[in-house]
Amino acid sequence: MLDFDFYNPTHILFGKGRIADLPKVVPANARVLMLYGGGSIKSNGVYGEVMAALAGRVVREFSGIEPNPSYETLMQAVELVRKEKLDFLLAVGGGSVIDGTKFVAAAVHFEGDPWSILENRGRNIKQALPFGAILTLPATGSEMNNGSVITRKSLHAKLPFSNRLLFPAFSILDPAKTFTLPAKQVGNGVVDAYAHVMEQYMTYPVNSPVQDRFAEGLLQTLIEEGPKALAMPDDYDVRANVMWCATLALNGLIGAGVPQDWATHMIGHELTALYGLDHAQTLAIVLPGMLRVRKDSKRAKLLQYAARVWNITQGDDDARIEEAIKHTQDFFEQMGVKTRLSDYRLDAQSIEAVLRQLGNHGMVSLGEQRDVTLDVSRKVLEMSA
Ligand code: NZQ
Ligand code: ZN
Repeated sequence: MLDFDFYNPTHILFGKGRIADLPKVVPANARVLMLYGGGSIKSNGVYGEVMAALAGRVVREFSGIEPNPSYETLMQAVELVRKEKLDFLLAVGGGSVIDGTKFVAAAVHFEGDPWSILENRGRNIKQALPFGAILTLPATGSEMNNGSVITRKSLHAKLPFSNRLLFPAFSILDPAKTFTLPAKQVGNGVVDAYAHVMEQYMTYPVNSPVQDRFAEGLLQTLIEEGPKALAMPDDYDVRANVMWCATLALNGLIGAGVPQDWATHMIGHELTALYGLDHAQTLAIVLPGMLRVRKDSKRAKLLQYAARVWNITQGDDDARIEEAIKHTQDFFEQMGVKTRLSDYRLDAQSIEAVLRQLGNHGMVSLGEQRDVTLDVSRKVLEMSA
C-alpha cells in the first residue's frame, strides 16, 4: 500500500426527514446564504422544508446555479455574500450546486483574481467560508469531499480544484428527495459514481486488498441497484443504497493508499466544456476506450475486475479483459447513458478540438503512470468514435 493522509471532517446526516435537523448543524447566529439550481427544489418540497427548518434565522437566497456551474454565475453569488455580509453557505441540490458553493466559499475572501483559484487548482486558497449541503442527486460525491469543478463559459474551460478547507461541515442525505429525479439523472448519477470507483481502482496492484474489496463492493452494488433505481423509481431502499454508494465512491476512503488515474475525467471535462454533454455522458464515452487502449498497463487489475466484479473466469486473458470492458459499456447503456461520440453527433473534428483544449490546459501526461499523452488521448477518442 502507498503512504497516505486521510482527512474527512464532513458530518453526514442520512435518512428520511433529516432536513428537519438543519437547526442543529447550522450555527445559531449564522447569516446564511442558501444556494440552489434551476428550481427542482421548489417543485419537490425541499425548498419548503429548508425554509421551515430555518425559520427565524437570517437566510438569503441565490438561485440559478446551472449544471456544470459557471464562474460567471457564481461571481454574482460572491458579490451578494460580500454585500450582505453573509457568513455561512448552504448548498441545496446536486453536485453542481455543491461545487458552485465551494467556489463561492473560497472566492469571497480571496485576494486577487478569483479565476486564479482554478489556474492553481485551489492551492492558493488561504481561507474559506463554512458551508453545509443538502444533496438531492446522488452522483458526484461532492457532498463529502473537498473537490469542485467550475466552468468559465467565455473560455470554454472546465477545471477542477480542491483544498482541505473545502469539505462541507455537514451534508444531509435524504434518499426520498431523489424520487423526483428524471430517469436521465438517475442513470447519469450511477455512471458517474461507477467511473469514480474505476478511476481509483483500475490502475496497478499495490497490495491493497481492503481498498480493492471496498471498490469491488461499490461497483457490484451499483450494478445491482442502478437498474432497480430506474425500474422502481419510488423504492426508498434502492435509492438509499445508490446514494450511499455514490458518496463512498468519492469521499477519499477507497482512494487512500492506492494510485489514481482520472484521465477519463479530464478528457470528459473538455467534452462538456466544448459541446455541453452531461458529465456522466462524457465518462460513458471515454472510459471503455480508455480501458481498451491502456489494457497492457492495467492488465493485472483488469483481470481481477473481470473475475471479481463480473465473474468472468473462462477464456484467455485478452478475451476476459474485452468481455469485462464490454459488460461495463453495456451497463452504462442499460442505465440509459450512450457510450459513443457518434451517439451525440460528434465526429473527427470534435476529437481535434478536444485534443487542442487538453493541450491548452496542460493535460498532456495524465493517468496513474503519467503516460496518457495527447497521442494516447487521441487513440482513446478514436476508439470511442
Ligand atoms: O437545477 P435544478 O433545477 O435543481 O435541476 C437539477 C439539474 O438540472 C436536477 N436535479 C437535481 N436534483 C433533483 C433534480 N431534478 C429533480 N429532482 C431532484 N431531486 O438535475 C440536474 C443536474 O444536476 P447537477 O447538479 O448538474 O448534476 P450532478 O450532481 O451530476 O453534478 C454534475 C457536476 O458535478 C461535477 C461535474 O463535473 C458537473 O459539473 N463533478 C463534481 C465532482 C466533485 N465535486 O467531486 C466530481 C465529479 O467527477 C464531477 O466532475
Ligand atoms: Zn465524475
